[in-house]
Amino acid sequence: MSDDVILRMENMVKTFPGVVANAGINLEVRRGEIHCLLGENGAGKTVLMSTLYGLYHADAGSIIYKGQPVQIRSPKDAIRQRIGMVHQHFMLVPTLTVAENLILGQYRYWQRLSQMERAKAEIRRLGEEFGLRIDPDAVVGRLSVGEQQRVEILKALYHGIDLLILDEPTAVLTPQETSQLLGFLRELADKGLTIIFITHKLEEVMQVSDRVTVLRDGKDVATLNTAETSPRELARLMVGRDVLMEMPERQGEPGEVVLAVQDLCVENERGLRVVDGVSFEVREREIVGIAGVAGNGQSELALALAGLMPIHSGEVRLNGQVLREWTPRQVSQLGLAHVPEDRHGMAIILPFSVSNNFVIHSFGDEPFSRHGFLNFSRIREYAQRLVREYDVRLVSVDDPISSLSGGNQQKVVVARELNREPRLLLVNQPTRGIDIGATEFVRQRILAQRDRGSAVLLISTELEEIFHLSDRILVMYEGKIVGEVPPDRSLLDKIGLMMAGHRAEA
Ligand SMILES: Nc1ncnc2c1ncn2[C@@H]1O[C@H](COP(=O)(O)OP(=O)(O)OP(=O)(O)O)[C@@H](O)[C@H]1O
Ligand SMILES: [Mg+2]
Repeated sequence: MSDDVILRMENMVKTFPGVVANAGINLEVRRGEIHCLLGENGAGKTVLMSTLYGLYHADAGSIIYKGQPVQIRSPKDAIRQRIGMVHQHFMLVPTLTVAENLILGQYRYWQRLSQMERAKAEIRRLGEEFGLRIDPDAVVGRLSVGEQQRVEILKALYHGIDLLILDEPTAVLTPQETSQLLGFLRELADKGLTIIFITHKLEEVMQVSDRVTVLRDGKDVATLNTAETSPRELARLMVGRDVLMEMPERQGEPGEVVLAVQDLCVENERGLRVVDGVSFEVREREIVGIAGVAGNGQSELALALAGLMPIHSGEVRLNGQVLREWTPRQVSQLGLAHVPEDRHGMAIILPFSVSNNFVIHSFGDEPFSRHGFLNFSRIREYAQRLVREYDVRLVSVDDPISSLSGGNQQKVVVARELNREPRLLLVNQPTRGIDIGATEFVRQRILAQRDRGSAVLLISTELEEIFHLSDRILVMYEGKIVGEVPPDRSLLDKIGLMMAGHRAEA
Protein backbone atom coordinates (compact mmCIF):
# COMPACT_ATOMS: atom_id res chain seq x y z
CA MET A 1 0.00 0.00 0.00
CA SER A 2 1.44 3.36 -0.93
CA ASP A 3 2.31 5.74 1.86
CA ASP A 4 -0.33 8.26 1.16
CA VAL A 5 -3.22 5.80 1.51
CA ILE A 6 -4.60 5.97 5.05
CA LEU A 7 -7.61 3.69 4.62
CA ARG A 8 -8.51 0.83 2.39
CA MET A 9 -11.80 -1.00 2.74
CA GLU A 10 -11.81 -4.15 0.64
CA ASN A 11 -14.78 -6.08 -0.57
CA MET A 12 -17.01 -4.98 2.27
CA VAL A 13 -20.23 -6.95 2.59
CA LYS A 14 -23.03 -6.22 5.01
CA THR A 15 -26.48 -7.70 4.82
CA PHE A 16 -29.59 -7.22 6.88
CA PRO A 17 -32.46 -9.68 6.71
CA GLY A 18 -33.62 -9.37 3.12
CA VAL A 19 -31.26 -6.51 2.10
CA VAL A 20 -27.72 -6.41 0.87
CA ALA A 21 -26.70 -2.97 2.12
CA ASN A 22 -23.05 -3.31 1.05
CA ALA A 23 -22.42 -5.83 -1.71
CA GLY A 24 -18.63 -5.91 -1.85
CA ILE A 25 -17.53 -2.28 -1.69
CA ASN A 26 -13.95 -1.12 -2.22
CA LEU A 27 -12.89 2.26 -0.96
CA GLU A 28 -9.47 3.83 -0.86
CA VAL A 29 -8.88 7.09 0.96
CA ARG A 30 -5.66 9.11 0.90
CA ARG A 31 -4.12 10.86 3.86
CA GLY A 32 -5.17 14.51 4.13
CA GLU A 33 -7.79 14.42 1.40
CA ILE A 34 -11.47 15.25 1.51
CA HIS A 35 -13.14 12.22 -0.02
CA CYS A 36 -16.84 12.42 -0.86
CA LEU A 37 -19.15 9.42 -0.79
CA LEU A 38 -22.03 9.92 -3.12
CA GLY A 39 -25.05 7.77 -3.86
CA GLU A 40 -28.83 7.59 -3.95
CA ASN A 41 -30.91 7.02 -0.84
CA GLY A 42 -30.26 3.51 0.36
CA ALA A 43 -27.08 3.05 -1.70
CA GLY A 44 -25.21 1.94 1.42
CA LYS A 45 -23.20 5.01 2.44
CA THR A 46 -24.22 5.18 6.09
CA VAL A 47 -23.89 1.43 6.55
CA LEU A 48 -20.35 1.42 5.11
CA MET A 49 -19.25 4.26 7.34
CA SER A 50 -21.02 2.86 10.39
CA THR A 51 -19.06 -0.33 9.84
CA LEU A 52 -15.83 1.62 9.77
CA TYR A 53 -16.89 3.32 12.99
CA GLY A 54 -17.68 0.01 14.69
CA LEU A 55 -21.45 0.38 14.87
CA TYR A 56 -22.05 -2.50 12.46
CA HIS A 57 -20.06 -5.66 11.91
CA ALA A 58 -19.33 -6.55 8.33
CA ASP A 59 -20.23 -10.05 7.08
CA ALA A 60 -17.09 -10.05 4.96
CA GLY A 61 -14.31 -7.76 3.83
CA SER A 62 -11.26 -6.21 5.40
CA ILE A 63 -10.25 -2.82 6.66
CA ILE A 64 -6.65 -1.73 6.32
CA TYR A 65 -5.94 1.40 8.27
CA LYS A 66 -2.55 3.08 8.36
CA GLY A 67 -1.07 0.04 6.68
CA GLN A 68 -2.40 -2.50 9.19
CA PRO A 69 -5.45 -4.76 9.05
CA VAL A 70 -7.74 -3.65 11.87
CA GLN A 71 -10.81 -5.02 13.61
CA ILE A 72 -13.14 -2.27 14.74
CA ARG A 73 -15.75 -3.79 17.00
CA SER A 74 -17.19 -0.68 18.61
CA PRO A 75 -16.98 3.10 18.46
CA LYS A 76 -14.54 2.85 21.36
CA ASP A 77 -12.21 0.86 19.10
CA ALA A 78 -12.70 3.45 16.38
CA ILE A 79 -11.79 6.29 18.70
CA ARG A 80 -8.75 4.33 19.88
CA GLN A 81 -7.73 4.15 16.21
CA ARG A 82 -8.27 7.93 16.02
CA ILE A 83 -11.36 7.70 13.83
CA GLY A 84 -14.28 10.04 14.56
CA MET A 85 -17.80 10.23 13.12
CA VAL A 86 -20.51 12.86 13.03
CA HIS A 87 -23.80 11.08 12.34
CA GLN A 88 -26.71 11.88 10.07
CA HIS A 89 -28.77 12.38 13.22
CA PHE A 90 -27.02 14.03 16.11
CA MET A 91 -26.21 11.95 19.12
CA LEU A 92 -25.80 14.64 21.75
CA VAL A 93 -27.65 14.72 25.07
CA PRO A 94 -29.77 17.88 24.86
CA THR A 95 -30.07 18.46 28.59
CA LEU A 96 -26.31 18.48 29.20
CA THR A 97 -23.85 21.27 28.54
CA VAL A 98 -21.34 21.24 25.72
CA ALA A 99 -18.48 20.31 28.05
CA GLU A 100 -20.52 17.56 29.72
CA ASN A 101 -21.40 16.07 26.34
CA LEU A 102 -17.74 15.99 25.39
CA ILE A 103 -16.55 14.04 28.38
CA LEU A 104 -19.66 11.87 28.65
CA GLY A 105 -18.90 8.23 29.32
CA GLN A 106 -15.17 8.81 29.41
CA TYR A 107 -14.13 9.20 32.97
CA ARG A 108 -14.91 7.67 36.28
CA TYR A 109 -17.30 9.59 38.47
CA TRP A 110 -14.61 10.96 40.77
CA GLN A 111 -12.47 12.13 37.87
CA ARG A 112 -15.20 14.06 36.19
CA LEU A 113 -15.01 17.36 38.04
CA SER A 114 -11.32 17.76 37.49
CA GLN A 115 -11.68 16.72 33.85
CA MET A 116 -14.45 19.25 33.36
CA GLU A 117 -12.18 22.26 33.69
CA ARG A 118 -9.69 20.67 31.35
CA ALA A 119 -12.44 19.93 28.84
CA LYS A 120 -13.65 23.53 28.95
CA ALA A 121 -10.17 24.86 28.38
CA GLU A 122 -9.73 22.45 25.49
CA ILE A 123 -13.05 23.48 23.93
CA ARG A 124 -11.94 27.11 24.05
CA ARG A 125 -8.57 26.24 22.58
CA LEU A 126 -10.06 24.19 19.72
CA GLY A 127 -12.61 26.94 19.20
CA GLU A 128 -9.80 29.49 18.83
CA GLU A 129 -7.69 27.27 16.63
CA PHE A 130 -10.45 26.39 14.20
CA GLY A 131 -12.76 29.37 14.53
CA LEU A 132 -15.48 27.09 15.95
CA ARG A 133 -16.39 29.26 18.89
CA ILE A 134 -18.86 27.59 21.27
CA ASP A 135 -19.61 28.36 24.91
CA PRO A 136 -18.60 25.20 26.85
CA ASP A 137 -21.27 25.92 29.47
CA ALA A 138 -24.14 26.25 26.98
CA VAL A 139 -26.90 23.66 27.29
CA VAL A 140 -26.90 21.70 24.03
CA GLY A 141 -30.69 21.62 23.61
CA ARG A 142 -30.75 25.42 23.49
CA LEU A 143 -28.23 25.68 20.65
CA SER A 144 -29.21 26.07 17.03
CA VAL A 145 -28.81 23.10 14.73
CA GLY A 146 -25.67 24.61 13.21
CA GLU A 147 -24.16 25.10 16.64
CA GLN A 148 -25.03 21.57 17.71
CA GLN A 149 -23.19 20.32 14.71
CA ARG A 150 -20.15 22.33 15.69
CA VAL A 151 -20.34 20.60 19.05
CA GLU A 152 -20.41 17.19 17.30
CA ILE A 153 -17.31 18.10 15.32
CA LEU A 154 -15.62 19.52 18.41
CA LYS A 155 -16.42 16.29 20.20
CA ALA A 156 -14.66 14.30 17.50
CA LEU A 157 -11.67 16.64 17.48
CA TYR A 158 -11.51 16.57 21.27
CA HIS A 159 -10.85 12.85 21.19
CA GLY A 160 -7.88 13.44 18.92
CA ILE A 161 -8.50 11.97 15.47
CA ASP A 162 -6.78 11.50 12.13
CA LEU A 163 -9.87 10.51 10.15
CA LEU A 164 -13.20 12.28 10.41
CA ILE A 165 -16.40 10.87 8.88
CA LEU A 166 -19.27 13.28 8.33
CA ASP A 167 -22.65 11.85 7.30
CA GLU A 168 -24.67 14.51 5.43
CA PRO A 169 -23.43 17.30 7.63
CA THR A 170 -24.95 20.08 5.54
CA ALA A 171 -28.47 18.68 5.26
CA VAL A 172 -29.58 20.67 8.27
CA LEU A 173 -27.45 23.77 7.76
CA THR A 174 -28.28 27.14 6.29
CA PRO A 175 -26.31 28.26 3.21
CA GLN A 176 -24.14 30.49 5.40
CA GLU A 177 -23.46 27.72 7.90
CA THR A 178 -22.71 25.38 5.02
CA SER A 179 -20.09 27.60 3.47
CA GLN A 180 -18.54 28.12 6.92
CA LEU A 181 -18.41 24.38 7.45
CA LEU A 182 -16.90 23.66 4.04
CA GLY A 183 -14.22 26.30 4.59
CA PHE A 184 -13.51 24.85 7.96
CA LEU A 185 -13.19 21.29 6.63
CA ARG A 186 -10.69 22.51 4.06
CA GLU A 187 -8.62 24.02 6.88
CA LEU A 188 -8.77 20.74 8.79
CA ALA A 189 -7.61 18.84 5.72
CA ASP A 190 -4.80 21.31 5.18
CA LYS A 191 -3.69 20.56 8.73
CA GLY A 192 -3.42 16.88 7.79
CA LEU A 193 -6.79 15.49 8.86
CA THR A 194 -8.42 13.04 6.46
CA ILE A 195 -12.12 13.59 5.87
CA ILE A 196 -14.82 11.33 4.43
CA PHE A 197 -17.85 13.40 3.57
CA ILE A 198 -21.28 12.04 2.64
CA THR A 199 -23.60 14.39 0.77
CA HIS A 200 -26.34 14.54 -1.86
CA LYS A 201 -25.42 17.99 -3.03
CA LEU A 202 -23.30 17.90 -6.14
CA GLU A 203 -22.18 21.52 -5.82
CA GLU A 204 -20.71 20.66 -2.44
CA VAL A 205 -18.86 17.70 -3.86
CA MET A 206 -17.42 19.91 -6.58
CA GLN A 207 -16.56 22.66 -4.12
CA VAL A 208 -14.97 20.76 -1.28
CA SER A 209 -13.65 17.36 -2.27
CA ASP A 210 -10.39 16.13 -3.75
CA ARG A 211 -11.84 12.81 -4.85
CA VAL A 212 -15.24 11.22 -4.90
CA THR A 213 -16.48 7.64 -4.78
CA VAL A 214 -19.94 6.90 -6.14
CA LEU A 215 -21.98 4.02 -4.68
CA ARG A 216 -24.95 2.45 -6.37
CA ASP A 217 -27.02 -0.44 -5.04
CA GLY A 218 -24.40 -1.34 -2.46
CA LYS A 219 -21.46 -1.35 -4.87
CA ASP A 220 -18.76 1.15 -5.72
CA VAL A 221 -19.23 2.24 -9.31
CA ALA A 222 -16.40 4.77 -9.66
CA THR A 223 -13.75 6.78 -7.87
CA LEU A 224 -12.88 10.03 -9.61
CA ASN A 225 -10.71 13.08 -9.16
CA THR A 226 -13.15 15.89 -8.51
CA ALA A 227 -11.27 18.26 -10.80
CA GLU A 228 -11.79 15.84 -13.67
CA THR A 229 -15.52 15.26 -13.35
CA SER A 230 -18.75 17.27 -13.53
CA PRO A 231 -22.05 17.35 -11.67
CA ARG A 232 -23.68 15.86 -14.73
CA GLU A 233 -21.35 12.88 -14.84
CA LEU A 234 -21.72 12.33 -11.11
CA ALA A 235 -25.51 12.42 -11.35
CA ARG A 236 -25.46 9.89 -14.15
CA LEU A 237 -23.15 7.54 -12.25
CA MET A 238 -25.32 7.78 -9.17
CA VAL A 239 -28.69 7.21 -10.75
CA GLY A 240 -27.62 5.15 -13.74
CA ARG A 241 -29.43 7.47 -16.17
CA ASP A 242 -29.56 11.14 -17.08
CA VAL A 243 -31.33 13.24 -14.50
CA LEU A 244 -33.12 16.07 -16.17
CA MET A 245 -35.15 18.65 -14.38
CA GLU A 246 -38.15 19.14 -16.67
CA MET A 247 -40.80 20.91 -14.68
CA PRO A 248 -44.40 20.87 -15.89
CA GLU A 249 -46.03 24.10 -17.05
CA ARG A 250 -48.40 25.46 -14.50
CA GLN A 251 -52.09 24.81 -15.04
CA GLY A 252 -54.79 27.39 -14.31
CA GLU A 253 -54.85 30.49 -12.18
CA PRO A 254 -54.97 30.85 -8.39
CA GLY A 255 -58.51 30.58 -7.01
CA GLU A 256 -60.11 31.16 -3.61
CA VAL A 257 -58.11 32.10 -0.56
CA VAL A 258 -57.47 28.95 1.50
CA LEU A 259 -55.15 30.32 4.16
CA ALA A 260 -55.36 33.88 5.45
CA VAL A 261 -52.94 34.99 8.13
CA GLN A 262 -53.40 38.41 9.72
CA ASP A 263 -50.93 40.05 12.15
CA LEU A 264 -49.84 36.71 13.49
CA CYS A 265 -47.51 36.75 16.49
CA VAL A 266 -45.93 33.67 18.06
CA GLU A 267 -43.71 33.59 21.12
CA ASN A 268 -41.22 30.88 21.95
CA GLU A 269 -40.94 29.21 25.36
CA ARG A 270 -38.68 31.99 26.57
CA GLY A 271 -41.30 34.60 25.73
CA LEU A 272 -39.41 35.98 22.75
CA ARG A 273 -41.55 37.11 19.83
CA VAL A 274 -40.29 34.85 17.04
CA VAL A 275 -43.12 35.53 14.58
CA ASP A 276 -43.88 39.21 14.67
CA GLY A 277 -47.00 40.56 12.99
CA VAL A 278 -47.02 38.40 9.89
CA SER A 279 -49.79 38.73 7.29
CA PHE A 280 -50.23 36.87 4.01
CA GLU A 281 -52.63 34.73 1.99
CA VAL A 282 -52.29 31.51 0.07
CA ARG A 283 -54.84 30.67 -2.61
CA GLU A 284 -55.96 27.52 -4.31
CA ARG A 285 -53.62 26.52 -7.12
CA GLU A 286 -50.78 28.63 -5.77
CA ILE A 287 -47.42 27.93 -4.17
CA VAL A 288 -46.19 30.61 -1.83
CA GLY A 289 -42.56 30.15 -0.88
CA ILE A 290 -41.08 31.51 2.31
CA ALA A 291 -37.42 32.24 1.91
CA GLY A 292 -35.14 33.07 4.77
CA VAL A 293 -32.09 32.05 6.69
CA ALA A 294 -33.02 29.34 9.21
CA GLY A 295 -33.93 30.71 12.61
CA ASN A 296 -35.87 33.74 11.42
CA GLY A 297 -39.25 32.47 12.56
CA GLN A 298 -40.17 30.20 9.66
CA SER A 299 -40.16 27.06 11.83
CA GLU A 300 -42.39 28.62 14.44
CA LEU A 301 -44.72 30.01 11.78
CA ALA A 302 -45.16 26.50 10.40
CA LEU A 303 -45.68 24.96 13.84
CA ALA A 304 -48.26 27.58 14.78
CA LEU A 305 -50.21 27.01 11.56
CA ALA A 306 -50.18 23.28 12.19
CA GLY A 307 -51.53 23.70 15.69
CA LEU A 308 -48.28 22.58 17.28
CA MET A 309 -47.36 25.90 18.87
CA PRO A 310 -49.68 28.43 20.52
CA ILE A 311 -50.64 31.65 18.76
CA HIS A 312 -49.95 34.73 20.81
CA SER A 313 -52.09 37.16 18.84
CA GLY A 314 -53.48 37.73 15.40
CA GLU A 315 -55.80 35.69 13.24
CA VAL A 316 -55.47 32.61 11.10
CA ARG A 317 -58.28 31.53 8.79
CA LEU A 318 -58.27 28.17 7.11
CA ASN A 319 -61.04 27.77 4.53
CA GLY A 320 -62.63 30.87 5.98
CA GLN A 321 -62.81 29.46 9.47
CA VAL A 322 -61.05 31.40 12.22
CA LEU A 323 -58.81 29.18 14.27
CA ARG A 324 -57.57 30.04 17.68
CA GLU A 325 -56.89 27.21 20.03
CA TRP A 326 -57.01 24.12 17.97
CA THR A 327 -55.34 20.77 18.07
CA PRO A 328 -53.24 19.33 15.28
CA ARG A 329 -56.05 16.84 14.68
CA GLN A 330 -58.61 19.59 14.16
CA VAL A 331 -56.31 21.39 11.75
CA SER A 332 -55.78 18.18 9.90
CA GLN A 333 -59.55 17.61 9.63
CA LEU A 334 -59.85 21.04 8.08
CA GLY A 335 -57.65 19.83 5.28
CA LEU A 336 -54.10 20.63 6.28
CA ALA A 337 -51.27 18.27 5.45
CA HIS A 338 -47.91 18.97 7.04
CA VAL A 339 -44.41 17.84 6.17
CA PRO A 340 -42.49 19.11 9.16
CA GLU A 341 -38.88 20.10 9.29
CA ASP A 342 -38.05 17.76 12.14
CA ARG A 343 -38.81 14.32 10.77
CA HIS A 344 -37.80 12.35 13.84
CA GLY A 345 -39.48 14.60 16.37
CA MET A 346 -42.77 15.16 14.63
CA ALA A 347 -43.47 13.10 11.56
CA ILE A 348 -42.63 9.48 12.24
CA ILE A 349 -42.53 7.02 15.09
CA LEU A 350 -39.25 5.18 14.69
CA PRO A 351 -40.08 1.82 16.29
CA PHE A 352 -43.39 1.55 14.37
CA SER A 353 -43.59 -0.29 11.09
CA VAL A 354 -43.56 1.56 7.80
CA SER A 355 -47.26 0.65 7.30
CA ASN A 356 -48.28 2.07 10.62
CA ASN A 357 -46.35 5.24 9.93
CA PHE A 358 -48.37 5.63 6.74
CA VAL A 359 -51.66 5.68 8.64
CA ILE A 360 -50.64 7.76 11.65
CA HIS A 361 -53.43 10.27 10.89
CA SER A 362 -56.00 7.90 9.55
CA PHE A 363 -55.79 4.55 11.33
CA GLY A 364 -59.09 5.24 13.07
CA ASP A 365 -60.96 5.84 9.83
CA GLU A 366 -62.46 3.50 7.26
CA PRO A 367 -61.16 1.47 5.52
CA PHE A 368 -58.20 1.12 7.91
CA SER A 369 -60.39 0.28 10.85
CA ARG A 370 -63.91 -1.03 11.28
CA HIS A 371 -65.95 -1.25 14.47
CA GLY A 372 -62.84 -0.41 16.46
CA PHE A 373 -60.65 -3.06 14.86
CA LEU A 374 -57.67 -2.31 12.68
CA ASN A 375 -57.75 -3.86 9.25
CA PHE A 376 -54.11 -4.77 8.85
CA SER A 377 -54.34 -6.08 5.34
CA ARG A 378 -55.92 -2.82 4.12
CA ILE A 379 -53.23 -0.80 5.89
CA ARG A 380 -50.53 -2.97 4.37
CA GLU A 381 -51.98 -2.69 0.85
CA TYR A 382 -52.20 1.06 1.17
CA ALA A 383 -48.60 1.27 2.37
CA GLN A 384 -47.42 -0.98 -0.44
CA ARG A 385 -49.12 1.17 -3.02
CA LEU A 386 -47.49 4.38 -1.76
CA VAL A 387 -44.14 2.64 -1.46
CA ARG A 388 -44.32 1.71 -5.12
CA GLU A 389 -45.57 5.09 -6.22
CA TYR A 390 -42.85 7.01 -4.36
CA ASP A 391 -40.13 4.45 -4.97
CA VAL A 392 -39.38 3.99 -1.27
CA ARG A 393 -36.60 1.40 -1.04
CA LEU A 394 -37.32 -1.19 1.60
CA VAL A 395 -37.74 -4.89 2.19
CA SER A 396 -41.13 -5.04 3.83
CA VAL A 397 -43.64 -2.46 4.97
CA ASP A 398 -43.86 -4.48 8.19
CA ASP A 399 -40.30 -3.53 9.15
CA PRO A 400 -39.75 -0.67 11.57
CA ILE A 401 -39.27 2.63 9.78
CA SER A 402 -35.99 3.01 11.67
CA SER A 403 -34.49 0.36 9.38
CA LEU A 404 -34.91 2.62 6.33
CA SER A 405 -32.16 4.93 5.13
CA GLY A 406 -32.60 8.59 6.06
CA GLY A 407 -33.83 9.66 2.65
CA ASN A 408 -36.31 6.82 2.39
CA GLN A 409 -37.83 7.81 5.75
CA GLN A 410 -38.37 11.29 4.34
CA LYS A 411 -40.06 9.82 1.26
CA VAL A 412 -42.56 8.02 3.51
CA VAL A 413 -43.53 11.29 5.18
CA VAL A 414 -43.87 13.15 1.91
CA ALA A 415 -45.90 10.34 0.35
CA ARG A 416 -48.24 10.15 3.32
CA GLU A 417 -48.90 13.89 3.46
CA LEU A 418 -49.23 14.50 -0.27
CA ASN A 419 -51.57 11.58 -0.64
CA ARG A 420 -54.11 13.15 1.70
CA GLU A 421 -55.20 15.50 -1.10
CA PRO A 422 -55.11 18.46 1.25
CA ARG A 423 -56.71 21.88 0.86
CA LEU A 424 -53.54 23.36 2.30
CA LEU A 425 -50.19 21.67 2.02
CA LEU A 426 -47.61 23.00 4.43
CA VAL A 427 -44.16 21.73 3.56
CA ASN A 428 -41.02 22.61 5.44
CA GLN A 429 -37.69 21.48 3.90
CA PRO A 430 -39.43 18.77 1.85
CA THR A 431 -36.33 17.46 0.09
CA ARG A 432 -33.88 17.55 2.98
CA GLY A 433 -31.72 14.44 2.92
CA ILE A 434 -33.13 12.96 -0.27
CA ASP A 435 -31.11 12.23 -3.37
CA ILE A 436 -31.37 14.16 -6.61
CA GLY A 437 -33.67 11.71 -8.36
CA ALA A 438 -36.10 11.65 -5.46
CA THR A 439 -35.83 15.41 -5.02
CA GLU A 440 -36.99 15.89 -8.56
CA PHE A 441 -39.84 13.46 -7.99
CA VAL A 442 -41.02 15.14 -4.78
CA ARG A 443 -40.91 18.56 -6.43
CA GLN A 444 -43.01 17.29 -9.31
CA ARG A 445 -45.54 15.95 -6.84
CA ILE A 446 -45.76 19.28 -5.04
CA LEU A 447 -46.41 21.02 -8.35
CA ALA A 448 -49.00 18.40 -9.26
CA GLN A 449 -50.68 18.98 -5.92
CA ARG A 450 -50.93 22.68 -6.70
CA ASP A 451 -52.34 21.97 -10.13
CA ARG A 452 -54.95 19.71 -8.54
CA GLY A 453 -56.10 22.80 -6.62
CA SER A 454 -54.28 22.75 -3.28
CA ALA A 455 -52.86 25.84 -1.71
CA VAL A 456 -49.21 25.22 -0.92
CA LEU A 457 -47.04 27.00 1.62
CA LEU A 458 -43.43 26.01 1.03
CA ILE A 459 -40.75 26.83 3.56
CA SER A 460 -37.21 26.14 2.55
CA THR A 461 -33.80 27.50 3.37
CA GLU A 462 -32.68 26.41 -0.07
CA LEU A 463 -33.24 29.32 -2.38
CA GLU A 464 -32.83 27.04 -5.36
CA GLU A 465 -35.88 25.08 -4.23
CA ILE A 466 -37.90 28.22 -3.53
CA PHE A 467 -37.20 29.56 -7.01
CA HIS A 468 -37.95 26.26 -8.62
CA LEU A 469 -41.41 25.85 -7.13
CA SER A 470 -42.90 29.13 -5.97
CA ASP A 471 -45.40 31.35 -7.72
CA ARG A 472 -44.69 34.10 -5.20
CA ILE A 473 -41.85 34.44 -2.72
CA LEU A 474 -42.10 36.04 0.71
CA VAL A 475 -38.86 36.78 2.51
CA MET A 476 -38.77 36.40 6.26
CA TYR A 477 -36.25 38.09 8.50
CA GLU A 478 -36.29 38.30 12.30
CA GLY A 479 -39.88 37.14 12.53
CA LYS A 480 -41.23 39.61 9.97
CA ILE A 481 -42.06 39.35 6.31
CA VAL A 482 -39.75 41.92 4.82
CA GLY A 483 -40.93 41.73 1.25
CA GLU A 484 -42.54 39.87 -1.59
CA VAL A 485 -40.85 39.10 -4.90
CA PRO A 486 -41.71 37.11 -8.01
CA PRO A 487 -39.63 33.98 -8.69
CA ASP A 488 -37.41 35.77 -11.17
CA ARG A 489 -33.84 34.56 -11.01
CA SER A 490 -32.48 37.99 -11.83
CA LEU A 491 -33.70 38.97 -8.35
CA LEU A 492 -31.52 36.41 -6.60
CA ASP A 493 -29.12 39.03 -5.24
CA LYS A 494 -31.95 41.20 -4.07
CA ILE A 495 -33.51 38.30 -2.16
CA GLY A 496 -30.15 37.41 -0.66
CA LEU A 497 -29.88 40.95 0.70
CA MET A 498 -33.42 40.85 2.05
CA MET A 499 -32.69 37.53 3.75
CA ALA A 500 -29.77 39.14 5.52
CA GLY A 501 -31.96 42.06 6.68
CA HIS A 502 -30.33 45.39 7.44
CA ARG A 503 -27.07 43.60 8.23
CA ALA A 504 -26.43 43.44 4.49
CA GLU A 505 -26.90 47.16 4.08
CA ALA A 506 -24.67 48.11 6.98
N1 LIG B 1 -30.46 -1.32 10.87
C1 LIG B 1 -30.90 -1.72 9.67
N2 LIG B 1 -31.74 -2.77 9.53
C2 LIG B 1 -32.17 -3.17 8.33
N3 LIG B 1 -31.84 -2.58 7.17
C3 LIG B 1 -31.00 -1.53 7.23
C4 LIG B 1 -30.49 -1.03 8.47
N4 LIG B 1 -29.69 0.03 8.22
C5 LIG B 1 -29.71 0.19 6.88
N5 LIG B 1 -30.49 -0.74 6.28
C6 LIG B 1 -30.73 -0.89 4.83
O1 LIG B 1 -29.48 -0.88 4.16
C7 LIG B 1 -29.56 -0.15 2.94
C8 LIG B 1 -28.49 0.92 2.91
O2 LIG B 1 -28.80 1.90 3.87
P1 LIG B 1 -27.92 3.18 4.18
O3 LIG B 1 -28.48 3.79 5.43
O4 LIG B 1 -26.47 2.83 4.18
O5 LIG B 1 -28.24 4.12 2.91
P2 LIG B 1 -27.63 5.55 2.57
O6 LIG B 1 -26.80 5.40 1.34
O7 LIG B 1 -26.96 6.14 3.76
O8 LIG B 1 -28.95 6.36 2.18
P3 LIG B 1 -29.47 7.87 2.58
O9 LIG B 1 -28.87 8.77 1.54
O10 LIG B 1 -30.95 7.81 2.38
O11 LIG B 1 -29.07 8.17 3.97
C9 LIG B 1 -30.98 0.40 2.86
O12 LIG B 1 -31.71 -0.45 2.03
C10 LIG B 1 -31.48 0.33 4.29
O13 LIG B 1 -32.87 0.15 4.32
MG1 LIG C 1 -27.46 7.68 5.08
